[in-house]
Amino acid sequence: MSDIKKIKDEYFNKLSTDLDLESINRIKTELFGKNGRISNSFKKISSSASEEKKKLASELNFIKDELQKKINNKLQEIENKEINSKLQNEKVDITLPERDINQGKIHPVSQVIDEISSIFSEIGFSVEEGPDVEDEHYNFTALNTPDNHPARDMHDTFYLNKNKKLLLRTHTSPVQVRTMLKGKPPFKIIAPGRTYRSDSDQTHSPMFHQVEGLHIDKNINMGHLKGCLNYFIKEFFEVDKLQMRFRPSHFPFTEPSAEVDIGYELKDGKIIIGEGNKWLEILGCGMVHPNVLKNVKINPDKYQGYAFGIGIDRLGMLKYGINDLRAFFETDYRWLNHFGFDPLDVPSNYRGLSR
Ligand code: PHE
Repeated sequence: MSDIKKIKDEYFNKLSTDLDLESINRIKTELFGKNGRISNSFKKISSSASEEKKKLASELNFIKDELQKKINNKLQEIENKEINSKLQNEKVDITLPERDINQGKIHPVSQVIDEISSIFSEIGFSVEEGPDVEDEHYNFTALNTPDNHPARDMHDTFYLNKNKKLLLRTHTSPVQVRTMLKGKPPFKIIAPGRTYRSDSDQTHSPMFHQVEGLHIDKNINMGHLKGCLNYFIKEFFEVDKLQMRFRPSHFPFTEPSAEVDIGYELKDGKIIIGEGNKWLEILGCGMVHPNVLKNVKINPDKYQGYAFGIGIDRLGMLKYGINDLRAFFETDYRWLNHFGFDPLDVPSNYRGLSR
């Protein structure tokens, strides 16, 4: 019997016994490793007589294939064994009670932003965004807010560097400027987002949320502003009746400027919007100041418009009866479970804004 056949018989015998993965790997090296028996046999062929070479080579190749097949089969066998034993040991016990599912809730602020966006989109407003870290130019200068304005004070604003160039935006109004610089009028946008002021008590948090509104076109007047806000507030609070009053105010970037109050009544500790004779301030607004338009290269003789800024958290507190603003940002899971919303309850004007 040739040497090659001997090797084959020897290893076929070995591979027919019960082997583990380690022994199979050892056999593989013994046969096909650098100094393996098959590898060496190949080397030997080159020194044999030339008429023998072809025969030996084909015989060796054949045996090599046979051995490899045998090894692969053995490996497959081991894998199957492992799977079967796993299946045996890891039986699913369908009688066990199910595990608790913890479904997350939508935070009231996110819900209110969705509601607001939905309402304004119905009357042609699109949604814009701006950065939280803002340049002093967009937050103040371009908004006609002079250097000596109290809003620029260290006590009111979080500055990020010594020269007071970078800050956390104190309102969403810089998005007005960014939007107008980006395109050509007309503009009809809202811009919801986070805003920051150095303030903290039961109704003020250093981080809070606003939504900015801006509508610039030819012949836009204060009547449009009033109509737009009246529509929004009624839709948001889901009421037919609304008392609304414009109180003269001052913002450097609007002229004239106003603060808007809505009428409400307290019934059994609950706030009812649209009834009663108490007033609640909910937003600031006005006609965009000609200087702001000039700063963004818009001719104020051709285009005019209005802007408003609404406190989102305040709206959420009123609508959903939440009385401490600070709880909004304490990330208490129990609070969120109570006041949060079902993720599938997406507010829409057709399906209803709130549940
Ligand atoms: N930015 C103002 C504020 O934060 C609100 C406002 C926006 C007023 C737009 C007028 C126009 O108080």
